[in-house]
Amino acid sequence: MKKYSIIANLKMYLSADQTVAFATEHFDALVKYAGHKSLAITIAPTLPVMRDLALIFKDTQLSWAAQDCSNHLAGAFTGQVSPLSLKEIGCSACIIGHSERRRFCGETSEDVATKAQLLLDCTLSPIICIGEDHEHMEQALATLHEQLNPVLQAIKNYQHKIKNIPVYIAYEPAWSIGTGKIAEGSYLESIFAWLKKETQALGAGFTWRFLYGGSVNAQTISVFKKIGAIEGFLIGKASSNFEEFEKILKSIMLES
Ligand code: PGA
Repeated sequence: MKKYSIIANLKMYLSADQTVAFATEHFDALVKYAGHKSLAITIAPTLPVMRDLALIFKDTQLSWAAQDCSNHLAGAFTGQVSPLSLKEIGCSACIIGHSERRRFCGETSEDVATKAQLLLDCTLSPIICIGEDHEHMEQALATLHEQLNPVLQAIKNYQHKIKNIPVYIAYEPAWSIGTGKIAEGSYLESIFAWLKKETQALGAGFTWRFLYGGSVNAQTISVFKKIGAIEGFLIGKASSNFEEFEKILKSIMLES
């Protein structure tokens, strides 16, 4: 049976109190779905509630991810959060290179490469987001290469250090995030085949997980499920509405 990795990227849709209310109101259902053999569920909430939620859901199979981290471990970096602190407050993973951070916060692929190294040093899984701006395959592969290559170069000697720590690659076409527009199946097949080839070039010893993100919802999930290479989803807007999120989970469970 295929096991899908589901990452709920709650972005800043809910406040701290709303996030705790959301999680506690749906505690039983979240725990139930997280324990299903076809699902591995990770929630990426707003940071101030991370420790509280990790404690509330202690001893369940739900995991926690941060939405970003510093590209330093410690020092004079006002406002930044160290991967080390993320580990201490209960995270097992961290999203890096999200298109919203690249666009609004000037995050570069070199930053993403450094963050990936630091996360792995702290035994946290990087969830490396890459994605092109326009729906043109040729440009897409060039952009994806520019974004992915620095990260792969940075972690290429990590295989012995990171046994059993998955490295997630989340392909999220920026033009699809939050727009309701989705790519054709054949387009996605080619992108994931390319990703597989690029990562395989690093050799054995890595546990790669290939995710798709961008307008995943209860309707579009049926398209994405048909792409065999997709091993999970990074879900934004739809994950902040429990009914919608639950429909996606049920649909995935049915088919896997
Ligand atoms: P979306 O966002 O599901 O709202 O399109 C996905 C993401 O940005 O990770």
